[in-house]
Amino acid sequence: MSQGTLFYEGKAKKIFSTDRLEEVLVYYKDDATAFNGLKKGTITSKGVLNNAISALFFELLEKNGVPTHFIRTVDDRTMLVKRLKIIPLEVVLRNLAAGSLAQRLGWTEGRELPRPVVEFYYKDDALGDPLINHYHVAALGVATGAELAFLEETGLAINRILVRHLAARNTILVDFKLEFGRSQGQIILGDEISPDTCRFWDASTRKKLDKDRFRRDLGSVEEAYQEIYNRLK
Ligand code: TMP
Ligand code: ASP
Repeated sequence: MSQGTLFYEGKAKKIFSTDRLEEVLVYYKDDATAFNGLKKGTITSKGVLNNAISALFFELLEKNGVPTHFIRTVDDRTMLVKRLKIIPLEVVLRNLAAGSLAQRLGWTEGRELPRPVVEFYYKDDALGDPLINHYHVAALGVATGAELAFLEETGLAINRILVRHLAARNTILVDFKLEFGRSQGQIILGDEISPDTCRFWDASTRKKLDKDRFRRDLGSVEEAYQEIYNRLK
C-alpha cells in the first residue's frame, strides 16, 4: 500500500488514494473549525489523538459486530480505510440535551432525554447542514426508507456499545455524529469517532472533554483530547 494523490481535503482530514482502488488513506490534521467553518484554529496534536481515538472506537465496534471502514492504522496521523461512497447524511445520536438540541427544545444542557434521540442532517455546507426528517431524505433521494431505518437502528446499536464502554471509564457520552457510506452493496460506518464529533463529559464533574472546549473558548483543549485518549487506551 503506497500513498497516491490527494483527492479530497476536508476541514479536519485529507484523503489520499492508494495503489488499491478499494482502499484510501485518511490523514488527520490539527486544523479545527466550528460553526460551519466560521471559526478556525488549530489544536496541537489533535490529528494524532483523533487518529488513535477513532482507531480504538472502530476496533471496539468491529469487535461488537458493527462493520466499519477501518482497516488499520498506518502511522500516527494516518489510517487505511475502505473507500466508501458517502451518504450525504449526518446521523446524530443524543443521550442528554446539549448543543443545538438544547437550543431547539429550550432545555438546559445536561437534561437527560427519556430515550436516545436520533436526528438526520443533510450534509451540505452551502446550506449549513440543515436538520431534516425522513420525508426530506426521500425527497432528496439520498437513501431509501429501508436504508434510513438501517442507519437509525445501527446508530442506536452503536450508541449502546459506546455508552457502556465510556461509562466504564467514568465518561458520559452526551451525543455524537456518524457518517455512513456504501461499499460493494453494503452500508458501513465511515468518517471518524473522536472528540471532534462527540460530546464527552467527565461523569463525576461533568467537565467537557471534547471540541466544545474549542467552540466555546473554554481552554485546555489539547488536554481534553489527551484525557479521552488516556481513558480509552
Ligand atoms: P449539535 O448539538 O451542534 O447539533 O451537535 C451534535 C453532535 O454532533 C455533537 O456531538 C457534535 C457533532 N457535530 C459534528 O460532528 N459535526 C458538526 O458539524 C456538528 C454541527 C456537530
Ligand atoms: N466541524 C463543523 C464546522 O466546521 C462544526 C462543528 O463541529 O462545530 O463547521
